[in-house]
Amino acid sequence: MTHIYPRIARLKTVASFAEHIQSLGINLPFDEEVIPAPDGPLAKPYTGQDGRKIGNRFCILPMEGWDGTRDGNPSELTYRRWRNFGLSGAKLIWGGEATAVRPDGRANPNQLMILDETMGNIENLRLTLVDEHRAHFGSQEDLLIGLQLTHSGRFCRPNDKTRLEPKILYHHPLLDKIFNLPAEIPLLSDTEIEDLIAEFISAAKRAQSIGFDFVDLKHCHGYLGHEFLSAYSRPGAYGGSFENRTRFLREIVSGIRSACPGLLIGVRLSAYDFPPFSPAEGGVGRAVTFQDSNGRYPYAFGGDPERPGQVKLDETIQFLELLESLKINLVNLTAGSPYYNPHTMRPAFFPPCDGYLPPEDPLVGVARNINVAAELKGHFPNIAMIGSSYTYLQDWLPNVAQYVVRTGMIDFVGLGRMVLSYPELPADILGGRPLARRRICRTFSDCTTAPRRGLVSGCYPLDEFYKVSPEAEQLKQIKKTFSPESLT
Ligand SMILES: Cc1cc2nc3c(=O)[nH]c(=O)nc-3n(C[C@H](O)[C@H](O)[C@H](O)COP(=O)(O)O)c2cc1C
Repeated sequence: MTHIYPRIARLKTVASFAEHIQSLGINLPFDEEVIPAPDGPLAKPYTGQDGRKIGNRFCILPMEGWDGTRDGNPSELTYRRWRNFGLSGAKLIWGGEATAVRPDGRANPNQLMILDETMGNIENLRLTLVDEHRAHFGSQEDLLIGLQLTHSGRFCRPNDKTRLEPKILYHHPLLDKIFNLPAEIPLLSDTEIEDLIAEFISAAKRAQSIGFDFVDLKHCHGYLGHEFLSAYSRPGAYGGSFENRTRFLREIVSGIRSACPGLLIGVRLSAYDFPPFSPAEGGVGRAVTFQDSNGRYPYAFGGDPERPGQVKLDETIQFLELLESLKINLVNLTAGSPYYNPHTMRPAFFPPCDGYLPPEDPLVGVARNINVAAELKGHFPNIAMIGSSYTYLQDWLPNVAQYVVRTGMIDFVGLGRMVLSYPELPADILGGRPLARRRICRTFSDCTTAPRRGLVSGCYPLDEFYKVSPEAEQLKQIKKTFSPESLT
């Protein structure tokens, strides 16, 4: 039943892929032929506003593994993943993975933390990536590496993988209910926010001192930075007006500018959001309906309050104008949240265990994200923009990637899930080698199901390392207990 949509692996010819796109009525252009380095568009270096050269147009998106130690240090599994980021050949490493600025802001007890006690090992992580990259590609000169700084806000689980310990900015009528938040749970106070701002600045100082080129002030996926942007109903200095909802960002930026001269700043942004989705008939996702007293859904930043589930980029554009005025010229665009509308940000054929069957052909989601990013890129030619959610394109990823970069719809193609199953994909595309089809991510979502059930993340279906791990057997047992249709 998942499977009213044709699988990409079966669309083997240009004609069949083009025909399917046409049948969906979406705008998803692609090049028929992909040109390798040195002439291909994906191999062309990018020089940013600050004069820094980035050697090609592939970006590794932040991908955490729920596999750090309890005290916030990387484990062998974390080192292995970062080594793979290095051997991918991508020249822009966006964040590595979500790294908490303080213990109670972790999304899970095994999330990395950037503290005085952990920074030495996080430096080793970066050096491992650089060494691997240099060993394969000869030089690290044109590699740009950032660290993603995060506080997980509403989705903190710092002590127990199954227990939320949320820090919220406002009461959200749907999310509070879906995630069983007690009505009396206090909001983060303005004073606590001020302390947190200071911690982000300290974290940025540490990141700079251990050699990161930039920090990402994460504003996506429902985590704290993103929640500020929709804190329309919050009273006081950090809610309500656009100015107040962006005060958190502006204060961190101002602190970093004075404490860390020379450190670049990037922002990963959910460019739009939708209401939460939940499994309805047959397990297929459907938006939860909600209207406030004015008949609106006013909680989706970049979404249309009058027509929930539609994109409206007015405030997103205003936010990017603000970034530009703050001299932030690195923006990574994503969407929604993995917790309440995962199909927006990582279109998949198979849902994770806490998800729902795709409410649309996943290619529709890919096209939405590509076209939203292109529209934003059109407004901000001087901001280096990275697009996300290309993995679902699978065999056709190189063709779409080349088109969007060649025509300036985006500057960099971000790779998330694909890099777990097939880290060498960018190097193979640039080298003009045929893709290793059996390593192409088919979006089984095991990399999400595993951590949702307390296991480390990784590509269990395709990466030999995880395939034979003890966790693979555990995951198999876990998956026996749910089928997509039973998600309702
Ligand atoms: C296992 C897993 C871990 C992720 N970790 C992070 C993270 O630490 N920070 C972040 O911003 N996004 C994270 N993401 C989202 C990805 O960066 C990316 O946006 C998403 O997978 C869509 O891109 P793709 O289609 O190439 O997979 C994660 C996604 C997955 C599946």
